[in-house]
Amino acid sequence: MGELPFSMDEYRGRQDRFLSKCKEDALVLIPTNPVRIRSNDTSYPFRANSYMLYLCGWMQPEAVFMAFNDSGVWKSSLFVQPRDTRAEIWEGRRVGTEGASSFWPVDEAFSIEDLEQIVQNKLDNCNSISSVTGFDEKLDIIIKKTNLEITDARVILDDLRVIKSDEEIKIMHEAGILASNAHVEGIMKTYSGIGEWEIQSIIEAHFSTNQSCPSYSSIVGGGDNATILHYNSNNMKINDGDLVLVDAGCEISGYASDITRTWPVNGKFSDAQKEIYNLVLNAEKAAIEACIVGSPWSSMHHASSKVLAQGLIDLGILDCSLEEALGENFNGPYRNFFMHGTGHMLGLDVHDVGGGRQGDKGPERLLQPGMVLTIEPGLYFGSWRSDIDIPKRYSGIGIRIEDDILVTNEGPVILTSSCPKEIFEIESLVGKMIEG
Ligand code: GLY
Ligand code: MN
Ligand code: MN
Repeated sequence: MGELPFSMDEYRGRQDRFLSKCKEDALVLIPTNPVRIRSNDTSYPFRANSYMLYLCGWMQPEAVFMAFNDSGVWKSSLFVQPRDTRAEIWEGRRVGTEGASSFWPVDEAFSIEDLEQIVQNKLDNCNSISSVTGFDEKLDIIIKKTNLEITDARVILDDLRVIKSDEEIKIMHEAGILASNAHVEGIMKTYSGIGEWEIQSIIEAHFSTNQSCPSYSSIVGGGDNATILHYNSNNMKINDGDLVLVDAGCEISGYASDITRTWPVNGKFSDAQKEIYNLVLNAEKAAIEACIVGSPWSSMHHASSKVLAQGLIDLGILDCSLEEALGENFNGPYRNFFMHGTGHMLGLDVHDVGGGRQGDKGPERLLQPGMVLTIEPGLYFGSWRSDIDIPKRYSGIGIRIEDDILVTNEGPVILTSSCPKEIFEIESLVGKMIEG
């Protein structure tokens, strides 16, 4: 039924840091995700809510984490599905209330069936509610009925989740290495004419063989498909002479990796592909170098943007000064070819909480030791674009290079460094595991 990935001390430390920032008169209620229907009476594989995983590692559906302050001491509890032989025959074994209170980092456990009644009782001694609404309809209705002030627990939890502990970093490093190795296997098994779905299955088989799973829908885009940012049809054959862009990460104990590599299916970059590849690679390296303690969040985006904009001018794709290419607030014409951000926080969610600002309108976040973020510049020249001029030489090229970066006092550490990205390294790997 799944072991806890972290020590009890780790979870209790997280709860203590969170609850010490909550109002003492608050009842804290954090739900997990609902089970979502895929079709008729079958559901998608259940994935617990990341706040629930963060606070107590509970992975089964229909659960609520609760905490209240009892004469100056915070007590935590879990509402869980009760043991039920009939339900377990169909849906799988349940930990139940006894298992939860004995082996999970909470003081007591209750049946989820008693949620409303127990919450009502607790509210006799509370004047507000701290919760994460919008995930659990039943809990939201119970909370609304109370007419108490509701504060958003995410404001506190997101800031805590932004800084990863040593135990979290260890798991995230494992996820980075596994995704890197999967990409290497994908590169080594690539040949001209391979189907996008075949590369996807090589990479995802590597994940499942290692008891992992994709952390998001894998993107495998050959040729022009690489210029569609969230392409995941993955159903086309890839022609000799085309590049393939693969953005596929995995999850270990809930923690995501997120990596992209782009390679030529025939093992040889053309001159035009090399020009764009090296430009994106230089932008990626500049952005990684900007991931230093104390730098504002946007510095890595500015670093990659400057390299890309200057490169687009040097290659004759943009005909203007660097200042004009970058434009006001880095929104100039270089954005026609680089439409997304340079990176995002990474953790229990692939697009992890926290982001570049503290809160919605707070000050820009400064990079701190223990933050993990992606760096992923790209350039996209879709031949199907009728809104912009693209030199024929570069038409149909889409390239992104993405790594996962840990910020430390000693400088950036690349958690996905075991997947090569220099042109000569990639060329020497393509097709090396093709038999015959
Ligand atoms: N794979 C989604 C992203 O790179 O952000
Ligand atoms: Mn990605
Ligand atoms: Mn990403």
